[in-house]
This record gives sequence, structure tokens and C-alpha cells, in this order.
Amino acid sequence: MAAKDRLIIFDTTLRDGEQSPGASMTRDEKVRIAKALERMRVDVIEAGFPIASPGDFEAVQAVAEAVRESTVCGLARAVDRDIDRAGEALKPAERRRIHTFIATSPIHMRHKLRMEPDQVLAQAVHAVRRARRYTDDVEFSPEDAGRSETDFLCRVIEAVIEAGATTINIPDTVGYNIPRQFGALIATLIERVPNADRAVFSVHCHNDLGLAVANSLEAVLNGARQVECTINGLGERAGNAALEEIVMAVRTRQDVFPCDTDLDTTQIVPTSRLVSTITGFPVQPNKAIVGANAFAHESGIHQDGVLKSRETYEIMRAEDVGWTANRIVLGKHSGRNALRTRLRELGIELHSEAELNEIFARFKALADKKHEIYDEDLQALVSEAAVEDYEEHYRLVALHVCSETGETPHARVTLSLASEERIGEADGSGPVDATFKAIETLAESGATLKLYSVNAITSGTDAQGEVTVRLEKGGRIVNGQGADTDIVIASAKAYLNALNKLVSPVFRAHPQMEHL
Ligand code: KIV
Ligand code: ZN
Repeated sequence: MAAKDRLIIFDTTLRDGEQSPGASMTRDEKVRIAKALERMRVDVIEAGFPIASPGDFEAVQAVAEAVRESTVCGLARAVDRDIDRAGEALKPAERRRIHTFIATSPIHMRHKLRMEPDQVLAQAVHAVRRARRYTDDVEFSPEDAGRSETDFLCRVIEAVIEAGATTINIPDTVGYNIPRQFGALIATLIERVPNADRAVFSVHCHNDLGLAVANSLEAVLNGARQVECTINGLGERAGNAALEEIVMAVRTRQDVFPCDTDLDTTQIVPTSRLVSTITGFPVQPNKAIVGANAFAHESGIHQDGVLKSRETYEIMRAEDVGWTANRIVLGKHSGRNALRTRLRELGIELHSEAELNEIFARFKALADKKHEIYDEDLQALVSEAAVEDYEEHYRLVALHVCSETGETPHARVTLSLASEERIGEADGSGPVDATFKAIETLAESGATLKLYSVNAITSGTDAQGEVTVRLEKGGRIVNGQGADTDIVIASAKAYLNALNKLVSPVFRAHPQMEHL
């Protein structure tokens, strides 16, 4: 049998994924996710857009320092200062890539860039040459390629390959294409561009019509050998192609695909959980591969079939994608070393003894309430303790809530507010509503609550509830998370976490849009 081609997996959770409103991540959160991606053996990690803000620059630099196995990539528009900034941020990387882009569709060139096609072509070539000063690994994207004219695309691609681009990424920026059309576009480009054999063709599909994965897979069948994707399909608007779906489709249907990835698929579910915890974007239960119900069989007929022979209703094995979760890892009697070791196994490196002590104290408090501690609980603990990137302006000291049949729920909250303890009280339509109102009597943030969601982190009534609160103020959107076995306390923590992010300069509304 002929050897299979390799399909390169380019993850853009930390860049395009972060463009989801409210999904801003701190530097340390990005490093945690990058380490998880590296553990999964993702080939290329797009860590951010260094020119967008000092925070983005630092995050890309920190990922470049932390990751040794995967290539670390930074995004840059096709302008000198973006490329220089990306080159600078990527300096510490073992393997670095600059990804530069400029739009090629008539609508973008006319209305957004206000440039003639020949000017766009010249700028693309110049950008690639400049990026080559920093690295031999240069990726070029003709933005909105999915709505560009094929003849012009061929001219641009040939010229940028000649200038030194080694990866040509074809984005369906607005998710407009359908699989047959997109596959044909890839085949045409590979066939018509004379020097196409000197570059890897890649695709980057958005999910506006729910076709991102289908379009990416069709592209692979037509010669693309890199797919750009994100964990849980996170990304701008309706998101990007979901990494887990691409990888498992290719792995499961090796009878159809002429290529395979090098990924350790058992890392998929833990990484999905980590991204969900950090961004506060829950995974829908029926989401393919990583949804809680993806391997659950409810109907009696299905259960019976699976018990007799698993293949009757399962095309993949749950354990192959990492569904060994809900494993009890630690308990009340576990010590500091056991905690440190397990955190390390989860890819969480603690920077100091003080940090270990802080997490250990939280761990002990949790183990007193909940005897079995799972990996998911540990991830939540670490997320909660990870406030070192920004100031904890509001801190929960105490919460007292009365909720009784026939009575109006009432909350009394004690907050440490810039180191001063203050008490706020309010009634509400429920205990959570009363708690948020009590907090607002002190914070007076004026923010609008955009989303409130509760998820049980693990199973059982003693599970921690993980709450996400999304707040918006003046166009700035932030997500706050909180976890606790008491969901009203978890809600208060999540609300305060969001408020802390709102008052912090680290968090931005749309990092990629700043300074552009
Ligand atoms: O969707 C898009 O076109 C992008 C480019 C920067 C590749 O994200
Ligand atoms: Zn995109």
C-alpha cells in the first residue's frame, strides 16, 4: 500500500478562536492551551496577532517560549510593521512561522482596501519577502479567497510562491462556499498555478452556513494538505472548522482519505474541556466527538446493540478521543506532591511554591466538600486561581442567601473592594438574581448581562457547578467563570470574575481589531 500523505493540522484557537466575542484569553491561559495543543501533537499553533495589542504580542512571545515541539505562528497583515512585530514576537520559538494575509476578493479590494488588484498583488509579494527575513516558514492567505476571482487568485499565488511563501492558505472567510464548489476551487488552483508543487495548500473555513468541516474535508480530497481549525469550532461569528471533527473524520474514514494526521487523539476531550473552561464557551451536549452525549446511547435498541457488539452503533471508540474523563484522581488525603504531579500530567506547570500553596489550599477546601476530585475539578481550580495576569479588584468574602417558598429571595454579599470590605444587599426574582443585584449595589458597573449559564463539571449531585457570566459594557465583552459545589456561590464568583476582567486593561473586546 502506498504511504499516506501527512495532513498538517494548524490550530488557530488562540487567534481566530479568540476573535469570538468574549473569548479573550490572558497570556497564561494561552500558554496553558498551547501546551495542551502541543501535547496533542498539533503541527502548527497560531498563537495570536502580535501587532493587535501589547497583550497579544506578549502572549505570542510567551507561547513561543513555552512550546518546543509544534511550530508557533503569528498573524500579520501584509504590511511591514505587522510583519516586523510578528517576527519579533516569534524570536524565542524553536520553530516559527509568519502568516501574512491580504484580501483578494473584488468586494474587499474595492470597499475595504480601496486598492487596485495589481497593488494588492505587489503588496502581497512584498509582505512575503519581508516575512522571509525572519523565517523560511512563511504562510500567505488571500483573504476572502472563497469569493475571489480564480484567475486573479492564480496570479497572486504564483507570485507569492515565487517570493518565498511555503504554505498557501485558502480562506473561505465568510463561510459562503459549499463543498463541491470549494473542493473544485482547490483542485483548480493546484492544477493551474505553475509552481504549486513548491507550496503546501491549506484551507481555512468559517462556519456561517454550517459547512466549515464539510468544505475543509472536500478540500483535503482535492489536494489540500493543511487544515486550519479550532478546538470546539470556536472562532469569529459562527466559528471555524472544528479540529476534533476534521481529525476524527480523516482518522475514521481512512478508506476515503489519502492522508492522515500525526495527532494523539486521546488528548481531544481534555483539550476541549480546557478551552471551554478558559473561554467560558460551553460545549453543546450533542456536539460531535466532544459533546457530553456524543457517545451516550439512550434508546433501548441502541443500548442492546452496543452491549452485544459495540460496532453496531459506534464508529469510534470513546477512549480514542479521550473520554476517560470523570476519573477520580485525587481525594481528601492526597498531599501537595500528588497534586503537583497530577497538575503536571495535565500540562499545568506552577511557577512558584506560593502558587502551589494557593491551589493546594483551594484543593483542600474543595476536597472537604466533595470527596472525589476529578481532572475537570482541578482544571476549574487552576482557572479560578489564575488571576495573576490581572488585578483582582473585587473579591468575594461572604455570601448569605435566603430562598424560601413563598418569600422573595434576598442576598447579602460581603466584597473586598480594593482591599476594603463592604456589604451589599438586594432582593431578586431568584437567589442568583438577588446575588447579582447585591453585587451591583457595590460595584455599580453599569454592565449588561449577556449570558448566564451553569454546567455541572462532573456527574453526581455533589459535582461542582461551573458558571459562565458574560458582561458587556461600552462594546467590551468579557466572560467570567466561577466554580463551586454551591451554584449560587459559583455564580457570584463568575460575576465578580467578569467584573474584574471588565476593569482590567488586559482584556480587550476584539483583540484583532485594535490598532488596525
Ligand atoms: O478568515 C480569514 O480569512 C482569516 C485570515 C486571516 C486567514 O482568519
Ligand atoms: Zn478566519
